[in-house]
Amino acid sequence: MSLTTACSENNPISDDPPGETTPGGGEDGGNQGEPGDVEGGNGRYLVLYCSRSGNTERMAQTIQSALDCDMIEVVPETPYEDDYNSMLERAQSELAAIREGTYPSVTTTVESFEDYEIVFVGYPIWYGSMATPMQSFLHSHAELLSGKEIALFASSGSSGITTSVNEARALLPDAVFTESLLLTSSTLGDMESRIPAWLSELGAGREGNEESDITSNSIRLTLDNGTAFTATLVENSSTQALKELLAAGDLTIEMSDYANMEKVGPIGTTLPRNDERITTSAGDLILYQGNSFVIYYAPNTYNFTRLGRIDNVSEDELRAALGEGDVTVTLSLNE
Ligand SMILES: Cc1cc2nc3c(=O)[nH]c(=O)nc-3n(C[C@H](O)[C@H](O)[C@H](O)COP(=O)(O)O)c2cc1C
Repeated sequence: MSLTTACSENNPISDDPPGETTPGGGEDGGNQGEPGDVEGGNGRYLVLYCSRSGNTERMAQTIQSALDCDMIEVVPETPYEDDYNSMLERAQSELAAIREGTYPSVTTTVESFEDYEIVFVGYPIWYGSMATPMQSFLHSHAELLSGKEIALFASSGSSGITTSVNEARALLPDAVFTESLLLTSSTLGDMESRIPAWLSELGAGREGNEESDITSNSIRLTLDNGTAFTATLVENSSTQALKELLAAGDLTIEMSDYANMEKVGPIGTTLPRNDERITTSAGDLILYQGNSFVIYYAPNTYNFTRLGRIDNVSEDELRAALGEGDVTVTLSLNE
């Protein structure tokens, strides 16, 4: 991966001057020994962030106050350079060092993430990459973050988030990544609407503790011919969002046959994805591309999200019930 993309090596981000906005009147612009840590009442979520000039910090604060959750600032051991060009030079050499396996020190450590359902990880984009303090933090906490659901958010002048998402995936190979959020200098102003929309896509909310009142993991699938199945859902943010959707009312999905191995139909909204490589078997319920509900009756190997499985059903029984063509399926919560 090269440091620079379309821009020149000497002034790689000439089109992308970093915002210098500091929230709260600039009192904490220095990030030295005064991390922006906050303890929130909603223990299901944690916001981790690093930020040199305040943009990512504002995103972190917006998420924190929307969720009323804990927030921890990841602070580099050597304070950020005030001088922009010095910061550019330093970032380049730190990114080069990371590629050689040497991570610049950060002063922040977290002992356990056990209590958190989703860990939000925010950082500015530096030379197309995740800013080095957060790379260091993730590197040194990879084991503790294993199996955790990670929601990445970033700010940039205009660069995309994809390179940094790949870096995060490489740093945390055993974590589960949800949909990420990037705000650039032209969309940072929309933060107040973009962040709540993203949080609701992830199924994360202030009243999250109440939402977990839906303790049942069982749903009912009723076909238009009257046949009904029960299914047991797995636990992830996708099924949590699905259950919340069903708590608001039954969901009817027009499904059609695909490749004689599945019925697939639109959910009508987007649920958070927890995609992984899965080989399906009869009865598997799958979320495809975040917005399609799939019932499998034959094997298929693909990257998608497991939602659950129809209880005690064989391929033959499913094929007989679902038929060869279109079918309408109504999903409801099984109290
Ligand atoms: C060292 C450095 C490198 C940067 N590299 C890029 C870049 O490659 N692409 C981009 O769009 N913006 C780049 N920027 C701009 C920042 O990503 C952007 O201003 C971001 O919002 C800063 O976040 P912060 O205020 O939380 O530090 C860079 C800024 C710095 C300081």
